[in-house]
Amino acid sequence: MLLETQNLSKSFDGVKIIEDINLTLNNNEIVGLLGVSGVGKSTLFNLLSGLLLPDSGKILLNGQDITGKTGIISYMQQKDLLLPHKKIADNIALPLVLKGIKRKKAHEMVLKKLPEFGLEGTEHKYPDQLSGGMRQRAALLRTFFFNSRISLLDEPFSSLDTITKTQLHLWFLSIISKINMSCILITHDIDEAIFLSDRIYIMSGSPGRLTSEITVGASRPRDTGFTTSEEFMRIKKEILCCLHF
Ligand SMILES: Nc1ncnc2c1ncn2[C@@H]1O[C@H](COP(=O)(O)OP(=O)(O)OP(=O)(O)O)[C@@H](O)[C@H]1O
Ligand SMILES: [Mg+2]
Repeated sequence: MLLETQNLSKSFDGVKIIEDINLTLNNNEIVGLLGVSGVGKSTLFNLLSGLLLPDSGKILLNGQDITGKTGIISYMQQKDLLLPHKKIADNIALPLVLKGIKRKKAHEMVLKKLPEFGLEGTEHKYPDQLSGGMRQRAALLRTFFFNSRISLLDEPFSSLDTITKTQLHLWFLSIISKINMSCILITHDIDEAIFLSDRIYIMSGSPGRLTSEITVGASRPRDTGFTTSEEFMRIKKEILCCLHF
């Protein structure tokens, strides 16, 4: 097991937001985290990334306590994806520059990767000159440049049309299969969770807890045929049942 939490709990202003979160993430695994708005998903990511300290509980990476430590797990946050006043190349190069790599060298590394992420020729543009899908790919590329074995992705494909979303899903699965990376991915979208994940946690209640865990057996990378398969429908029914629909 790569990452594990033990009984993580967090309150804000005396109100318990999440309680007794015990999750695991294995090597090369994509885990989906599904839950309604306000249940505490982003709060959980803020704890995992070390941005927030839990009131109780621990976060273990390969058995070592990393609770409250930043810079170990890369994190694509739900908002403020890219800095608006910085060009795309500078935005993506940020983690490299933070690591102490010279700007020129960092730019070279970014330029090499842009075509793979469908961003060729965007290096001198500003985020608001790109489409929503391009901005999300740029934010993902920046997350990957943190070069951590674990990435937390908070709704990385939200607010995209269905066609662009499907294209990005396929692209994401093909990129992930090429690099040794484990991800936890927050989404509100049940189909997205099933299509991308090896395992799905459902978070519900107040305070938020992990109330169900569903395994998606299909191998990766997957094609869109999976979304109309019997296996997909069976998992979707199971999730709807867990969500009490
Ligand atoms: N820094 C904070 N201070 C006080 N309350 C907070 C803080 N961060 C989050 N909360 C509260 O904690 C609860 C959970 O918020 P969180 O952002 O984790 O939800 P979420 O599941 O990510 O929701 P969404 O799907 O809308 O992004 C909300 O009631 C929110 O108002
Ligand atoms: Mg959130």
